[in-house]
Amino acid sequence: MSYHNPYTPPRKSATFDDATLAEIRRAAATGIYDIRGAGTKRKLPHFDDLLFLGASISRYPLEGYREKCDTSVVLGTRFAKKPIRLKTPITIAGMSFGALSGNAKEALGRGATIAGTSTTTGDGGMTDEERGHSEMLVYQYLPSRYGMNPRDLRRADAIEIVIGQGAKPGGGGMLLGQKISDRVAQMRNLPKGIDQRSACRHPDWTGPDDLEIKILELREITDWEKPIYVKVGGSRPYYDTALAVKAGADVVVLDGMQGGTAATQDVFIENVGMPILACIRPAVQALQDLGLHRSVQLIVSGGIRSGADVAKALALGADAVAIGTAALVALGDNDPKWEDEYQKLGTTAGAYDDWHEGKDPAGITTQDPELAARLDPVAAGRRLANYLKVMTLEAQTIARACGKNHLHNLEPEDLCALTMEAAAMAQIPLAGTSWYPGKGGF
Ligand SMILES: Cc1cc2nc3c(=O)[nH]c(=O)nc-3n(C[C@H](O)[C@H](O)[C@H](O)COP(=O)(O)O)c2cc1C
Repeated sequence: MSYHNPYTPPRKSATFDDATLAEIRRAAATGIYDIRGAGTKRKLPHFDDLLFLGASISRYPLEGYREKCDTSVVLGTRFAKKPIRLKTPITIAGMSFGALSGNAKEALGRGATIAGTSTTTGDGGMTDEERGHSEMLVYQYLPSRYGMNPRDLRRADAIEIVIGQGAKPGGGGMLLGQKISDRVAQMRNLPKGIDQRSACRHPDWTGPDDLEIKILELREITDWEKPIYVKVGGSRPYYDTALAVKAGADVVVLDGMQGGTAATQDVFIENVGMPILACIRPAVQALQDLGLHRSVQLIVSGGIRSGADVAKALALGADAVAIGTAALVALGDNDPKWEDEYQKLGTTAGAYDDWHEGKDPAGITTQDPELAARLDPVAAGRRLANYLKVMTLEAQTIARACGKNHLHNLEPEDLCALTMEAAAMAQIPLAGTSWYPGKGGF
């Protein structure tokens, strides 16, 4: 005999929630893991959990219309003969040609150039469009070595050695066959239309000592002119920063787990790495312990969306930030104007993340010539430039309100934390106190 309790409504499990049940069914039906683009979707401690205090009697604010607040940054001041000078501390992160269309790469270069900042190549090499339209172009040197050649090392304005990415520290990249067009195949020296996996570690390294040798090789190839960056995913930021610096990096790029990716296993994106909020202070501590904070610059990324995020990252000790996902949105990614087409793909604007499939209605994460032609690189570049300008103005507004005449003068003391987690991770006092977990007393 079955018993139905009429007083208690049906109750779903918090552990086996609808999304979990759907994923179990999907795995059972297909036998393959879920691959997608973009960053973590779960809620994580983030910059939203920090607030600026602003000036009042004990601090003196600056007047917005009369008093200057500098936003410039110089990257690569340690060893490079030709450091990179940016008008804004917001750079465009490395995103590969292959993952992105040629037009999207060109638009990133155009937007960054108007804004006075740099853009970055990615797995798969340098395209002529992006070199031609980027005043300052950082060339990634990746484990896969796809598209790598000494000529492009010399054509670049800086070199970024990629050890890892925040979305997948310890993991390699993927580019599915749908996106391996003739041009992508030719640049990567791979067969057309076949799924490709990028290596998770550099083929000629067995440990950190090899990084030092590699940096020296790259300096010789580029005549000690170009700044050498080292990019790591947020996993052990103190030691990774210290090792990169010891190996001779000019700049450390630290990418938290919110960081976007073109194509990675969902289980990886959601479960490996640390939020950028938890990574910045240990990295800054490593630089300070080595006496090189501000001499070796720190670029941080992973979920940066606004001038407030930029200002908070800088207040925690970063010199600059990098944006990936937000730059794609500025170009036109996930725009509701394509809603009918997103629906046909079984998704909706704002949730579209099947970037690996190459069917992007906005023409950004695709190699399909018809879809790619939808993106006008000139107009998209202008949108990106506008967005970068707004973010810079926002960060400046906040800095002035804190009494700072340079974004780099923002400091931890300007911040308070809204949650215990954020207080502990960012080592910022909980709002209304002078205490954070791990620090004694009130
Ligand atoms: C479409 C796409 C492609 C990417 N390709 C690369 C790449 O080739 N090399 C790399 O180091 N990182 C790559 N990334 C990661 C970005 O460089 C950056 O670390 C990340 O996007 C920053 O986080 P955000 O997207 O939240 O701004 C890619 C990210 C996206 C969204």
